[in-house]
Amino acid sequence: MTETIAVIPGDGIGKSVVPAAVRVLDSLDLGLSFVMADAGDETRADTGTPLPDRTIETVESADATLFGAAGETAADVILPLRSVVGSYANIRPARTYPGVAAVAPDTDLIFVRENTEGVYAGIESSIEPGITTLTRVVTEDASRAIAEMAVEYATDRDSSLTIAHKANVMRTTDGLFLDTATAVANEHGIDYDTALMDALAMQLVMEPEAYDVVVCPNLAGDLLSDLAAGLVGGLGLLPSANIGGDNALFEPVHGTAPDIAGEGIANPTATILSSAMLLEYLGYDQAGRQVRAAVEASLENGPKTPDLGGNGSTEDVTSAVIDRL
Ligand code: NAI
Ligand code: MG
Repeated sequence: MTETIAVIPGDGIGKSVVPAAVRVLDSLDLGLSFVMADAGDETRADTGTPLPDRTIETVESADATLFGAAGETAADVILPLRSVVGSYANIRPARTYPGVAAVAPDTDLIFVRENTEGVYAGIESSIEPGITTLTRVVTEDASRAIAEMAVEYATDRDSSLTIAHKANVMRTTDGLFLDTATAVANEHGIDYDTALMDALAMQLVMEPEAYDVVVCPNLAGDLLSDLAAGLVGGLGLLPSANIGGDNALFEPVHGTAPDIAGEGIANPTATILSSAMLLEYLGYDQAGRQVRAAVEASLENGPKTPDLGGNGSTEDVTSAVIDRL
């Protein structure tokens, strides 16, 4: 079967790191077919909308999407696209690599973040001038879905699972999240611990090597994964996946990097690693592992872009990864 990948470079460095990742995917000869689509600031300037219907249709009918970044229009592009793929899980690995400087050199974490509810459900009210409220939504279904996914990651990695929560304060909502996630972990007979999310933030800084897969409610996952990004040394390295029931979108965590856009020096690693996650999502586990290994070897011994202290170009790093494949 030929899988179709929707490819949306977007703006800024998206225009160089996404084609770099497509070159890597193409070099594997898996017979994937790529369909280019437009979104972002330039698309808005050209067409009047940052996310044309044609792009949405391309994403809907593709087996998976690889997205770069959008500039000012990011929220108008990426939030709707995440819902087009029905994403309920945001997966953010954060790990260090040999040969790359990091605050915490032995970090290898995967955050499995609930992506639809919590305080990001968007239910806010202005009661009267000076008084506002927010409704936090937690459902058993969404908690179960995210916990199942986290258990899958922990099982694949043969690792433990940490369930982040604040059920001592948010007794009803995080109580449900915690009860549901622990029930799922128990059903699967997997090792887990639970951690209060504030204390966990400190522990992740003091002792990141003690953690592996961390399942989190929405806001906690956003904060803790950014904290971990800081530990491992730079946005240029961090991939992510937005997983839905039968579709998914993969993107680097970084934005359009206007300060270096067009210079040919953007680090393509985050996007290439996102494409490795895409391969695994489509069932090409071995190819995914190969891409990861090639990236690792290239980070250790090959050219590096300036964000990692080297003087290599996007092109140099991409070619080094492809050579290793
Ligand atoms: P940014 O991630 O674009 O850049 C932050 C810093 O990291 C910059 O100094 C940049 O040069 C560096 N950097 C990021 N990725 C890099 C890479 N691959 N290689 C080398 N250096 C890299 O975040 P910023 O500056 O906050 O936002 C810039 C634009 O990107 C804004 O318009 C924002 O709206 C958009 N954005 C879009 C996102 C998306 O589409 N998902 C996510 C984050 C920001
Ligand atoms: Mg964030």
